[in-house]
Amino acid sequence: MQLPKQPFTAYLAPRGFVSDLVRELGGKRAGLVVRDRLVLRPGEPVESAWAHNVWFDPQVITISSIKDAARQLKAIQRNWSLYSVDNHRRAKLIQEQLPHVSAKPIPFGSPLPDSPLGSWTLWSHDTVIASPTCSSPVSDGEYYFVENKTDPPNRAYLKLWETFTRLNRFPRPGELCLDLGSSPGGWSWVAAECGAYVFSIDKAPLDGRIDRHPRIQHCIGSGFGLDPRHCGTIDWLFSDMACYPERLYNLVTRWLELGRCRNFVCTVKLQGEEYAKDLEPFMAIPGSRLMHLSHNKHELTWVLFDTI
Ligand SMILES: C[S@@+](CC[C@H](N)C(=O)[O-])C[C@H]1O[C@@H](n2cnc3c(N)ncnc32)[C@H](O)[C@@H]1O
Repeated sequence: MQLPKQPFTAYLAPRGFVSDLVRELGGKRAGLVVRDRLVLRPGEPVESAWAHNVWFDPQVITISSIKDAARQLKAIQRNWSLYSVDNHRRAKLIQEQLPHVSAKPIPFGSPLPDSPLGSWTLWSHDTVIASPTCSSPVSDGEYYFVENKTDPPNRAYLKLWETFTRLNRFPRPGELCLDLGSSPGGWSWVAAECGAYVFSIDKAPLDGRIDRHPRIQHCIGSGFGLDPRHCGTIDWLFSDMACYPERLYNLVTRWLELGRCRNFVCTVKLQGEEYAKDLEPFMAIPGSRLMHLSHNKHELTWVLFDTI
């Protein structure tokens, strides 16, 4: 398969969301070359919400053998992660000759690896694409945590764990969080376990154990029913409500205009394929970002910190 002209950038799509990444990067007209979940795009890196990992400076390297490939990669830097698209056995043999990179699940609260991690692929029998600089400090941008299988009521807590870990920001003891669309209570549990107080709202009740948490107070109702003018200042607004993006955007801007919420973490639920217009207003909010998390489905997480 033909490579784009250099310079190009490589973007790794989440499993099941290649078409979303391709659309975001400009589709066929942008001259993309797509192989499995790896999307090569001519030109310098562009912002991408969908990419789990961006290979910022891919180099095309001709190799004469497995040993030669490992030698050339090691000459660039120490740590490499393989994303295999072709010649899988040969690629694996090359990776085995490179220093071992730990793939251990991350305990929540511990820092992410800080040594540079490059990504590479064996494009053809004798061609390697290798990028020493990538956006993600973990292989393929996939965040695996040491899971808590007893306390949270579902796996949604992993979305908040990933957000806090990736951005190295956590609710602090004593902070106040408003959790909209909170049931059965995974996000509320995460914030409360960080020591924050949580006021949670959902049309449905919380899981009994979460409801009894001393720092969580739940109210049955609509997350849109609460008027921010009638609340004091809050440290975090969480929303994981299943709702139209426009409705969420209106809610968020009311809080922003009043200047009464410091940090936002909101899931933007997407419908069909024509959602690009729905995302534009979120992307236009200065200082914020949209990202696809390892445990997100067809949705993106919108984050804004330190507004006041
Ligand atoms: C994906 S679940 C939330 C999971 C939750 N974040 C957790 O960690 O357990 C979406 C929730 O949004 C709630 N929801 C949808 N529309 C709502 C609304 N208008 N007001 C309040 N809750 C709403 C649903 O009842 C549902 O419990």
